[in-house]
Amino acid sequence: MKILVTGGTGYIGSHVAVELINQGHTIEIVDNLSNSQIEVLDKIEQITSTRPVFHEVDLLDQLALDHIFDNTSFDLVIHFAGLKAVAESIEQPLRYYDNNVTSTINLLESMQSHSVKNIIFSSSATVYGDQGVDQCVETMPTGIKLTNPYGKTKYMIEEILKDLAISNPEFSIISLRYFNPIGNHTSGLLGENPNGIPNNLMPYIMKVATGELPELNIFGNDYDTEDGTCLRDYIHVVDLAKGHLAAIDGLKPGFTAYNLGTGRPTSVLEMVHAFEKVSGKPLPHKFAPRRPGDLPKLYANPKKAEQELKWHANLTIEDAIKDTLTFISNK
Ligand code: NAD
Ligand code: WQD
Repeated sequence: MKILVTGGTGYIGSHVAVELINQGHTIEIVDNLSNSQIEVLDKIEQITSTRPVFHEVDLLDQLALDHIFDNTSFDLVIHFAGLKAVAESIEQPLRYYDNNVTSTINLLESMQSHSVKNIIFSSSATVYGDQGVDQCVETMPTGIKLTNPYGKTKYMIEEILKDLAISNPEFSIISLRYFNPIGNHTSGLLGENPNGIPNNLMPYIMKVATGELPELNIFGNDYDTEDGTCLRDYIHVVDLAKGHLAAIDGLKPGFTAYNLGTGRPTSVLEMVHAFEKVSGKPLPHKFAPRRPGDLPKLYANPKKAEQELKWHANLTIEDAIKDTLTFISNK
């Protein structure tokens, strides 16, 4: 297939790009490099011996986007591009709504006017919001008590995609609701490397492991869980990437959502201990107050993807930690 990958130089997009090329697909990447580096293309080439065509374009630029579609006839778009920092989205809501929602509408306009009718969208477990349930299943309603603009953009985009599928039955749309992606390609060439102080757990742990930050703050140890720290569903990004290949085979008319998670909850303390075990070194950490907005427990029911897409996560958090250590040692 000829596939346009938006946000393809980013953390998840670059891993999916590798899997797509390895499966024989021809891809082009569009990214404005607002949160990724051009050197990622070299790494993709190193791993796959193929350099994807790259367009440095902002999806907010409809004319430039149309130009990409004028020149190539794509079978499918996989849409990763977007801003994703929860705290930043609370400070800059308009930027998030514009960058995530407006740019998706632009993309869909370009697709529609060029008769491209297949799209896989990077959604998030965050669309479930706070329903007082630990394990999320696709039959649950979405958009319940969402606490930040980032999460709301994912919910709004899903609603737009549902309406588009109703208006035009030729559209085949899959929304993949990711849980907590961690790890990187086993080569250690690709990975997540945020500037400044990271918000997410694994990037923070990485900076403590390299000595860039002194210790990990564990946000809350008085939750109603076995060790008092929050439970999440950490999925290896390579498993997540393979979920996209399965989704390509599962495309069908209409809008369909799938959870991509392992179904296995891990606590923050378990993650810290696993990191210490795999690295063979202590990871300095201390308990800190709860982080506002955190849910105590959130993990996937991944059965729908298992049954309909014949996909399940194979890799463990230990695999992810091992690959993370390789990535750190390559930096
Ligand atoms: P990332 O920031 O590494 O990648 C996103 C890419 O999109 C970046 O390369 C960025 O430069 C690009 N981009 C952003 N806005 C753009 C625009 N207007 N035009 C063109 N390019 C633009 O993030 P990621 O972790 O790879 O996430 C990919 C997608 O998955 C995002 O949509 C994110 O919301 C979603 N997601 C991520 C997670 C996670 O924990 N990483 C979880 C759930 C969902
Ligand atoms: C995981 C756990 C923290 C940092 C977010 C988004 C979600 C999705 C994934 C994009 C929590 C704890 C963290 C730290 C800690 N992103 N923690 N110390 O909050 O589950 O999900 O990223 O779509 O939408 O909300 O992920 O990695 O931030 O936190 O103790 O320094 O680690 O409290 O329990 P989260 P996270």
